[in-house]
Amino acid sequence: MSMNPITFTPIGVIHSPHKSKEGTPIQPSRLQRSSGEVEIFSEFRPGLRDLEGFSKIFLIFHLHAMQESQLEVTPYLDDQTRGVFATRAPSRPNPIGLSLVDLFSIDNGILKVGGLDILDGTPLLDIKPFIPDIDHAEGIKVGWLEDKTHHFRNHQADDRF
Ligand SMILES: C[S@@+](CC[C@H](N)C(=O)[O-])C[C@H]1O[C@@H](n2cnc3c(N)ncnc32)[C@H](O)[C@@H]1O
Repeated sequence: MSMNPITFTPIGVIHSPHKSKEGTPIQPSRLQRSSGEVEIFSEFRPGLRDLEGFSKIFLIFHLHAMQESQLEVTPYLDDQTRGVFATRAPSRPNPIGLSLVDLFSIDNGILKVGGLDILDGTPLLDIKPFIPDIDHAEGIKVGWLEDKTHHFRNHQADDRF
């Protein structure tokens, strides 16, 4: 079965210190202190009302610098192939990224954020607040990442994607 393509309109753009994929943190990390700004385009700014009370937000974005998708990848932190949907690798059929970042302030449509694993100039598709009672879960299994997740905290991308 095939379905019609879907078109999204970016609501803003992410300004980050990371100019190339290589060397960018592989996940949001406080340890790596990658602060930046999220600029929301003026027509979408009314949607920011009441967001300032949240300290953590999800950024949902277009992995715009990804050129090709792969259904099987050798993810960061591993040396064998995995199905892409069992990873957070950026080379996906629909190149959509999801990062949980710190929200420091909002001023005139500019969000100051921390913990970016996102390239400079990345189009932003959506923002959602992190809500512990909804987004927290216990008794989680992490499959092939068992014993590896602590490496996320201080690991940068290489040139594999
Ligand atoms: C492993 S992905 C994870 C992204 C997000 N946290 C997620 O889980 O969907 C992070 C890597 O994607 C790459 N990346 C970040 N922004 C990108 C963009 N706009 N286009 C292509 N690759 C990007 C960088 O190499 C970064 O280290």
